[in-house]
Amino acid sequence: MIVLKKEKSLLYKVEDLVFSYYLGKQKIEALRGLSLEIPASELITISGPSGSGKSTLLNILGLIDKVEGGKVFFQNQDISLMSEKRQNQLRKFQIGFIFQQFHLIPVLSAEENVRYFLSRQQLSKKEIKDRTEDSLNAVGLFEHRRKKPSELSGGQKQRVAIARAIAKHPDVIIGDEPTASLDQKTGLEIMEILARLVEERKSTVILTTHDAMVQSFSSQNFHIQYGRL
Ligand SMILES: Nc1ncnc2c1ncn2[C@@H]1O[C@H](COP(=O)(O)OP(=O)(O)OP(=O)(O)O)[C@@H](O)[C@H]1O
Ligand SMILES: [Mg+2]
Repeated sequence: MIVLKKEKSLLYKVEDLVFSYYLGKQKIEALRGLSLEIPASELITISGPSGSGKSTLLNILGLIDKVEGGKVFFQNQDISLMSEKRQNQLRKFQIGFIFQQFHLIPVLSAEENVRYFLSRQQLSKKEIKDRTEDSLNAVGLFEHRRKKPSELSGGQKQRVAIARAIAKHPDVIIGDEPTASLDQKTGLEIMEILARLVEERKSTVILTTHDAMVQSFSSQNFHIQYGRL
């Protein structure tokens, strides 16, 4: 019998990535030949000084900004070769986002914030209800489901944002400094939730951070400086 060694599956492969911003005629080279590989089902952090290109990298991994030079493969597919439609689909169904400032819809309750995004996907009413409940339970917020963001603490708001991201059943959750506006204890609770998602649901989580506590949860940290590793 031949036993094949199972290789770790890669979620992203980034090769010589280049990205610039243009302010009038001024060119700002945010990423200058960055290469890295992100395995699936792990918690990965990206650190580096302010302005080193962390958020720029996340925007490209999240298919928000386009690759300018080099290549990015998502699940072995070159994202530059994907149609606009395919990229929109990936962003809508396979990538969950969380942000430093939560980005919740203020007039909707916690539950409605989670459901709102699901209602734009073609899911049955029952599926939407089940996923909403399951996600709010997973972040320990079910009992607060009727509260609006203004009635929730920072940590609770971030938990709603995580519930909203995981309700999609995404392949990857991308977070730009998701604990940066929280105190250390609340940030730790958020990290425990994210670590549990990786452990129990085999999600892949990619976070940028300045915080050693956050990095301590990662299986791998990439340190970026001047747009390079
Ligand atoms: N929208 C933009 N227009 C012009 N330049 C930008 C824009 N966004 C970022 N930059 C520049 O690109 C470079 C990389 O920025 P980026 O936001 O990726 O850094 P960062 O590592 O996320 O920093 P921070 O830790 O402060 O969030 C910086 O020089 C920044 O000034
Ligand atoms: Mg940033």
